[in-house]
Amino acid sequence: MLENKLSRHYWHMIAHRTELPANNDFLVLKWAHGDIVVFNDADDLIVFDNLCPHRGTRFFIEPAGNAPAYCPYHGWSYRNGEVRVPNPERFKPCDLTRARLNKFQVDWCGDFLFFAIEPCMSLVDQLGETTTTLEDISFNISGRSDLNQYDFECNWRIALENALEPYHIDLIHTDSLGVLKLQDGENKFYGLNSEWRAEVGDERLAKRLKTMRRLFSIDFQYEGYLSLYIFPYAMLSSTFGYSYSLQNFFPSAQAGHTHFASRLLTVPTPAASVAATSAFFESTAKVNRQVFNEDHDICRRVSLSALETHDILSETEEKVRHFRNALQQVRTTT
Ligand code: FES
Ligand SMILES: [Fe+2]
Repeated sequence: MLENKLSRHYWHMIAHRTELPANNDFLVLKWAHGDIVVFNDADDLIVFDNLCPHRGTRFFIEPAGNAPAYCPYHGWSYRNGEVRVPNPERFKPCDLTRARLNKFQVDWCGDFLFFAIEPCMSLVDQLGETTTTLEDISFNISGRSDLNQYDFECNWRIALENALEPYHIDLIHTDSLGVLKLQDGENKFYGLNSEWRAEVGDERLAKRLKTMRRLFSIDFQYEGYLSLYIFPYAMLSSTFGYSYSLQNFFPSAQAGHTHFASRLLTVPTPAASVAATSAFFESTAKVNRQVFNEDHDICRRVSLSALETHDILSETEEKVRHFRNALQQVRTTT
C-alpha cells in the first residue's frame, strides 16, 4: 500500500531543535501507526512510538509539554537512553533487555529533525537541492509559538494537493492569504520535493513587510511568499521569512481522515522589538489557523476517487502533477 511505503521507507520532517530546548520537553504527533513522540532526553532528541514497552500504555497524552517519559500504569520510565523498570527482580523469567522503546532513526538537516523507520535512501539524497534552503531556514528559527492539531476530514493526498497549488487562494482565502495578492511566481522541483516562490502583489502590503525587516535578527529571507514541499508529508511556508509555518499531513488509519498538525515557528528578534514581534507572531498564528480551516472546509468536499480520474491541471497546479508523479514513482519502485 502506498501509505505504508511512504511511511516506512522515507524520512519525515518532524520538529525544529528549538521546539524542545529543555530536558524532558516532548511533542506528540499522530499518524496512521499511532503516536510519534519527539523527546528531549538529556539534550538528545529522540523519536519513538508513544507506547510503554511493558504493556503498551501511552506515555504522553498531551500534544506538547515538559514531563519525564514515565508510564503511570506500573511506573516504568525512560531516561538517559535506558528503560527503567522498578523492582527488576520480579521479572526473573523474562528477559528485560527486550524492554526497549520502539525508537525511530533520526537525522538532521540543519536544525530540522527528521525520523524514519527503514529509509530507502539517506536524508541528504531524499532532500536533494532542498537541503541548502532548509538549512538556511533552520538557522533562522528561535522556537514555536503555536501548535494546532486536528483531523482533516479528507484523505491526506487531497489535503496535500490543496497545499501544493495557489490556484485556489483567491476564492478560498479571500480575506486571509488572498490579501497578499501573490503573483504567479515560480515553481522549482528538487527530486521528490518542490518549491514555490511568489512576490507579494499588493504594493502597500509589500512595502509594509519590507520595512518590518529591522524587527528581526535574521540572515536569510525570501522577500515574498515561499512554500516548500518536503516529501512525503510536510510543508514549510513563510512570508518574508518573519516566521515559518510547518505543516504535517500524516495519513490516518481512519479512511478519509488526515492527521493535520501545524506549527508557527518564530524567528530571532532583538530585545528592543520583542513586544512588536510577539504581537506579529500572535496575529500570524491566528491568520494561519483561519487559512487551514478554509483549506479544510473545501478539502472535505473533494472526492477521493477523483484523485485517480481528474487530471486537467492549470500551470499553477504544476506541483500537484509533480506530486502525483512522485507518488507513482514510489508505487512502482520502492
Ligand atoms: S504498561 Fe507501562 S508500566 Fe505497565
Ligand atoms: Fe489553501
